[in-house]
Amino acid sequence: MQSPNTSGSHGGGANLPLHMTPLELLDRALSEAPGLISAAESLSELDAVEARVLGPDSDTGQARKAMRTTDPADRPALGARLQEVTAVVTGLITEKRRNLDLEAEKVKLASEQIDVTLESLTFPRGSLHLIQQTIDDITDIFVGLGYQVADGPEADLAWFNFDALNTPPTHPSRLESDTMYLDFGDPADEVLLRAHTSTVQIRWMLEHEPPVHIIAPGKAYRTDTIDATHLPVFHQIEGLVVDENITFSDLKGTLAHFAREFFGPQTEARLRPHFFPFTEPSAELDVSCFNCQGTDPSCRVCRGAGWLEMLGCGMVHPKVLEAAGYDSTKLSGFAFGMGVERPAMVRHGINDIRMFIDNDVRFLRQF
Ligand code: PHE
Repeated sequence: MQSPNTSGSHGGGANLPLHMTPLELLDRALSEAPGLISAAESLSELDAVEARVLGPDSDTGQARKAMRTTDPADRPALGARLQEVTAVVTGLITEKRRNLDLEAEKVKLASEQIDVTLESLTFPRGSLHLIQQTIDDITDIFVGLGYQVADGPEADLAWFNFDALNTPPTHPSRLESDTMYLDFGDPADEVLLRAHTSTVQIRWMLEHEPPVHIIAPGKAYRTDTIDATHLPVFHQIEGLVVDENITFSDLKGTLAHFAREFFGPQTEARLRPHFFPFTEPSAELDVSCFNCQGTDPSCRVCRGAGWLEMLGCGMVHPKVLEAAGYDSTKLSGFAFGMGVERPAMVRHGINDIRMFIDNDVRFLRQF
C-alpha cells in the first residue's frame, strides 16, 4: 500500500485539525477512501485500510467525534453526511473484501488442483506372520470341535505356573536356569513369565463351571539360549477338556483328529508314555511323517524316523482339578500342550527357528 497518509489527523485527541470543518473532513474521506481501498492487495492490507478510513483517528472518526461539539442546529446535516459517507466507504470495503476472498479461493483451488487421471501409488498389503497363521489353523480345528478360545497373562504368579499344576517346590523347572522370574511385586508371590500356557487351565477352571472345552494360544518364556531350534520367547497352544466321564480314549481320538486335520488325512498318531506333574497318566503324541509316511530313510522332515514329536498330553491330575476347586471324584479331563514354532517349521520345511524373528520380508512374504 503506497498511498501517503493524508488524513492529517493522526496522533488522536478529540480536537479537530484547526483548519478543517467536519464536513470538509468527510469530503476528504470520501475522495481518498476509494483509492486506498482499491489499492489493497490482500485481506490484511484491507483491514489496515479500514482502520485508517473508518477508525477513531480517521477523518470519519474525527467527524464522528465532532458531533458532540457541533451546534445542535447543524447536527442533523452533519449526521446525515456522516452516515452517507460511512455507508459509501463501508460498501466499498465490503465489496473489496468479497473480491479478495474470491481471489484467495481461486489461488487456493489452483494450488490444490489434482490430476485425477494420474496413476495411483500402490501400497503392498501386509500379511499375517506364519506363527499367527499356524495358531489360527490349529485354533480353527478345535473351534470346529466346539472349543472356546481362552486367554491369560504372560506375567503370572508362580502359583499358576507351578503349584496349582502339582509341580513340587523342588522341581528343576522352577530354577532360574529354566524359568524367567520378574523382580516385581511381593517377592513371596514369585512373579514370572509363564513357562507354558498351562497357567490358563487353572485360571479358566477357577472362573468357570464345568464342562470345559478350551484352547489357549499364547506366548511362553524359558531361559533358553537362542539357536536354530530354541527361542526364549515362543508360542504354545494349550488344550483342556473337563467333564464327567472323560477318558483317555477321548484324548487319543481328539488328538488323532487334530493330526489328520493339520497334516493331512493319511496322518497316523501314536502316544508314547511320558511324565508331567499335572497329568497322570501322561504321554507324548507323535504323528506319522506327512512327508514320507515312514518310507524314506533320508527324509528331510523326519530324518528317517517316520514319526514327528508333536505335543505333551495326559489325563488331568486330580490334584490339579482340586487346586482349581473342581470335584475330582466326579470330574475327569484331559489336557495337551503343543508348541507352535516347531509344527510350523516341520510343515513348511523351515530349518532355523530364528527366521521367525528376523523380520526378513523375503522370508515372511513366502507364506
Ligand atoms: N505344559 C507342557 C509343556 O509345556 C505341555 C503339556 C500341557 C503337557 C498339558 C500335558 C498337558 O511342555
